[in-house]
Amino acid sequence: MRQRPTPDGAIPTRRAASLLLALGALAAAGCRAPGAEVPPLGSTRHAAVAVDTDGGRRELTFLAGRVDDEEAEVLARLAPNVRLLRGLSEEEALARAGELDGVDARYATPELLAAAPRLRWVQAFSAGVDRVLAVPELRARDEVLLTNMQGMHGPTIGDHVFAMLLQLTRGLDAYGARQAEGRWDRSSPPRAPTALAGRRLLVVGLGGIGTEVARRGDAFGMDVWAIDRTPRPGPAFVDRTGTPADLDAWLAQSDVVVLCVPLTEETRGMMSRERLLATRPGAFLVNIARGPVVDTDGLVEALEAGHLGGACLDVTDPEPLPEGHPLWSAPNVVITPHVAGWSESTGERVRDLFRENLRRFGAGEPLLNVVDKAAGY
Ligand SMILES: NC(=O)c1ccc[n+]([C@@H]2O[C@H](COP(=O)([O-])OP(=O)(O)OC[C@H]3O[C@@H](n4cnc5c(N)ncnc54)[C@H](OP(=O)(O)O)[C@@H]3O)[C@@H](O)[C@H]2O)c1
Repeated sequence: MRQRPTPDGAIPTRRAASLLLALGALAAAGCRAPGAEVPPLGSTRHAAVAVDTDGGRRELTFLAGRVDDEEAEVLARLAPNVRLLRGLSEEEALARAGELDGVDARYATPELLAAAPRLRWVQAFSAGVDRVLAVPELRARDEVLLTNMQGMHGPTIGDHVFAMLLQLTRGLDAYGARQAEGRWDRSSPPRAPTALAGRRLLVVGLGGIGTEVARRGDAFGMDVWAIDRTPRPGPAFVDRTGTPADLDAWLAQSDVVVLCVPLTEETRGMMSRERLLATRPGAFLVNIARGPVVDTDGLVEALEAGHLGGACLDVTDPEPLPEGHPLWSAPNVVITPHVAGWSESTGERVRDLFRENLRRFGAGEPLLNVVDKAAGY
């Protein structure tokens, strides 16, 4: 199968893994079956060097979160000139801010940034960095690179999207209730089961996650359309690609719409009340991106009016969704509590990306998954 052209110069997992193995690190990715589809590990799209380390001779300090001894040994082998501080409290971190060259984004508070003049790298352990970029001190400091986990959740969230969608299209919620009662009841559930084959899937945001959603949609026999911010051809399993300018027209022609965009100034409220009501009647909306991409009141209205066929939400606005919120009781809704990316595979991919970035940090090589702070992702 043709891989997506990589204007971002994405590094295939197997190459990255062999790098890690060459350095004596454990790399689970190196054990994959030959021929398996392996989404890329890390993007060089905005890659940049955080600190010139004179070929690894300069000593650096990175403040990590909780890292166990075994993993700390692996990291020390990969980046021998990087001293790792681990598991400090916020107060302890602040007291040592002056020593820091890099930090886990969980420590990147305004106070720490103000007290850390040497700081050159912040590593977020999430793909979305909307909350990290809400710290103005980080946005303002051009010399501090922010890297994220963009793309690391793709395979798992791709699975989760179809798990939620199939619950609605195959009536699994209704059959599940009958099973819980121990009842063999073959009568049609209130919402008649439907097939995905031949339906049109619109993926909004064809990045790390969107690509995996599109790949699975193609395998289900769907006609896959995708919208990206930057116009470019998609992979072979995407039948048509467009830009945000196509959104209104394409929403009206799609049966399943999956939101895979980051939360930015451009995407906040992207699925407005008007757009929700302009979707094809009976369409399913899936949001695994961020809650505020969708107008929640408009969504409830479109569901209650029976305009939307259903919604699958791993993220909501607000979050957590409060008890008694109308979305809990809206018809044909599947809600999971922001867990779509959880799996051992995501954990391994996140770990491998961090190992590789720490190695690059120490070696003075360009970091992967550098965020464009102005664009917000
Ligand atoms: N539910 C969860 O637990 C969970 C877990 C991980 C991530 N997420 C969310 O999912 C988002 C995407 O993650 P990812 O790993 O797929 O990131 P990614 O690889 O950076 O992909 C983002 C994609 O969105 C596109 N995009 C950006 N702005 C757009 C716009 N205005 N209109 C249309 N497309 C736009 C980008 O297009 P270009 O390439 O053209 O710039 C890119 O293809 C994250 O930012 C995060 O908010 C949620």
